[in-house]
Amino acid sequence: MTEEVGKVVHFEETPNFRKVTVKLTVGKQVFPGELLRVEIGKDRWLIVRVTDAREINPYEKPEQAHVRELLNLDDSLSHREDLPRKFTLAIAEVLEEIEKSNGSLSVFEPHTLARVGSGVFRIDEDFLSSVLGISKEEKNIFIGTTADPSKTKVFLDPERILPRHILIVGSTGTGKSYFRGVLMEELARIGIPQINIDIHGEYNKATEELGGTVVIPGRDITIRLSSLGEGELLNLMPKLTELQQDVLRTAFLSLKRKRSEFGVDELLKEIEEVGSKITDPRTRTKDLVKMRTESLKDVKIIGEGTDWRELIRKNKIINIDCRMNSQWEIQAIAGAIARELITLRQKEEIPPLIFSVDEAHMFIPSSGDSPASQVIRELIRMGRHIGIGLILITQNPMDIDKRTIKLTNTRFIFALEQDQLEHLKGVFSDTPKEIIANLPKLETGTCLMTGSRESIRHAVLVKIRKRRTTHGGETPSMVVE
Ligand SMILES: Nc1ncnc2c1ncn2[C@@H]1O[C@H](COP(=O)(O)OP(=O)(O)OP(=O)(O)O)[C@@H](O)[C@H]1O
Ligand SMILES: [Mg+2]
Repeated sequence: MTEEVGKVVHFEETPNFRKVTVKLTVGKQVFPGELLRVEIGKDRWLIVRVTDAREINPYEKPEQAHVRELLNLDDSLSHREDLPRKFTLAIAEVLEEIEKSNGSLSVFEPHTLARVGSGVFRIDEDFLSSVLGISKEEKNIFIGTTADPSKTKVFLDPERILPRHILIVGSTGTGKSYFRGVLMEELARIGIPQINIDIHGEYNKATEELGGTVVIPGRDITIRLSSLGEGELLNLMPKLTELQQDVLRTAFLSLKRKRSEFGVDELLKEIEEVGSKITDPRTRTKDLVKMRTESLKDVKIIGEGTDWRELIRKNKIINIDCRMNSQWEIQAIAGAIARELITLRQKEEIPPLIFSVDEAHMFIPSSGDSPASQVIRELIRMGRHIGIGLILITQNPMDIDKRTIKLTNTRFIFALEQDQLEHLKGVFSDTPKEIIANLPKLETGTCLMTGSRESIRHAVLVKIRKRRTTHGGETPSMVVE
């Protein structure tokens, strides 16, 4: 039996099918968003979620407080917990009805009215997992506990959560990368391979501690020219005229149609061929394009390509440290790797895996497209069918493509400013408005977890667990001692 926190009372229009009001037992507290169970029969409960609470305290009406202040009277009495007319009411919305039979819990659409006087209790892991449709198995992904006094452990089933993609958002310093690290530990424990685009090199230590490998583009891995999208290629070669871009694009696409893999030399040949047909021989356009293309040989990240099969076979975590790369290079790296992984998964040459990108707004911006947008969208759409789960992390929901993030099925929303919240409409699922309004004030390391029927049925606040590995994102001290 879990702790009893109060009883259902009649208050305003409640209880009704949507809401109940709970008079809390003296000394008990509930938290916004906390799930509670209301007894409605033998082995039957309503699961309700606290949206608000209020203290009823006639001893502290403004008139009384004023008189006491004028007369300089002691006011400690009205702060006592055991005054007959002072109590706390919690307002809660009805989420589900639950029945226990043969030791297991089944969930229904709520159809029973809560009775006044019924006991209201905290929940435990059995209830939490049944209500949210999540796991309660220790072997699954353990992310932390509910952010309420019940501190119920939250486990997620990788089969349900990972293929449908994860979004992690929050303002700077709210705990996104720390949480990505928690997921890194858990995925490593379960044995799911992960490839991580690490823009700040902040997962290097954790990767090594977990027995993975840190790779540096241009030194340890390269991407094949043929894996780039045309936009990524053009961005790596700035200052081409429009005509030169046309020649390059035409040659690149023509070669892509002919071969699945090629390098700079093949592209040079194709430019020669295509250029002879579409440029005026009296101009030097073709030769200038060839000269510029030749310079791709100096772009360190482009080369023979990487044998992902081998790398993934040897390392369950591959952390790609992109600290030394420009934004264009990072886009090219992420885009090209995503394309190579899709092909390899389609041929089933690598196991199902997680592909994770920080600063996701760089790849799927809200206005216009980045060269990598198309492949990231493709991954979101088809990832579930081919076994690639995406983790997208961003601090700027304002700058990210809204349609794409709505397609992520499980979201972890850390503290965010009010103006950013506006841009997350559609990812809150059934979060009560009172809890959304409170999101800017969430503590570091606490987030709102939302999902869908297939992942997490109801929104809940989660306090992320402590890391076992080193978090590399600590803010360095500005003061030198
Ligand atoms: N769950 C947690 N438990 C304890 N401390 C935490 C937790 N989450 C975050 N922190 C602390 O907060 C700091 C900032 O967290 P983190 O680096 O994850 O921020 P972030 O959201 O990734 O920010 P940015 O957008 O700037 O990258 C961490 O260095 C760590 O000290
Ligand atoms: Mg971070």
